Amino acid sequence: MKEKKPLKILHFSDIHVDMLIRHIKWRNLLSKRAIGAINLLRGRSKYFDNAEQKMHALIEFKERNHIDIVINSGDYTALGLEEELKIAKELVEPLMQPPQRYITVPGNHDIYVHEGNSHYRFSEQFCSVLQNDLPEYCSGGHWPLVRLIGDDLAIVAINSSRPNMLPWKSNGMIPIEQLKSLDKLLDDDRMRDRKILVVTHYAPKLSNGEDDSRLHGLNNSDEFLKICSKIKSGAILCGHIHKPYCIYPESITIPIYCAGSSTMEGHESAWIYEVYENELKAYPIRWNGEEYYTLAALE
Ligand SMILES: [Fe+2]
Ligand SMILES: [Fe+2]
Repeated sequence: MKEKKPLKILHFSDIHVDMLIRHIKWRNLLSKRAIGAINLLRGRSKYFDNAEQKMHALIEFKERNHIDIVINSGDYTALGLEEELKIAKELVEPLMQPPQRYITVPGNHDIYVHEGNSHYRFSEQFCSVLQNDLPEYCSGGHWPLVRLIGDDLAIVAINSSRPNMLPWKSNGMIPIEQLKSLDKLLDDDRMRDRKILVVTHYAPKLSNGEDDSRLHGLNNSDEFLKICSKIKSGAILCGHIHKPYCIYPESITIPIYCAGSSTMEGHESAWIYEVYENELKAYPIRWNGEEYYTLAALE
């Protein structure tokens, strides 16, 4: 019998579109944003200068490689301004087709400060891709957001980002209600026998298997991983750390894949996952200055 064609998933992250910094009106920059903007002007922004060109290349890459599903784990912008979110959304829109096959979460930079309703600004731009197949598990906002793909795969998006009031803090936390919902969701019959991909912005562990710092990491990663230990087959997918890696933490039976940043000069990366009946193959994606290309699958 011919083997079923695997589903192909592209996972990219942390594109940090900040070209708008040249155009934003200074009156829009308040409190932490002003500090973020000054840091960008001091040099950080140059690492993301060609984000637009690279996003066009990623769209071509998606077409060339016949990708079925696209996942983005957040940090579309630098400062979370409405204008930046609009530009980022325009850039990734070709990847968002069809909307049921695009799964995303906000990064901390997308809800940078709590002026107005920062979560609403993100949802407003990305509402077309925030539909939920099991909305009864929503614990607030859109999360956890579940997509059931065919009979064999489920993708669960968890929001771990929150506005940080102090500029030197960029840590995350999954609200306890979301953790409780995730815990119940994983016992749902409709999730049984599926591979489960859990997507969140913050990395639950660093590339060396250790916790990130209190100021930069996911503050309740142990609680999150404890719940994810119920998952027998699948992976946790994250961003936030701008270098890609894959690790197998001791406390869970599934790997963590961090996508790194798809646009950061010198570190451009992403992943392709092929979902087979009994395995998940992961292929690192790199950038050669003109286009993205695929490396051999991880063993
Ligand atoms: Fe980032
Ligand atoms: Fe981040």
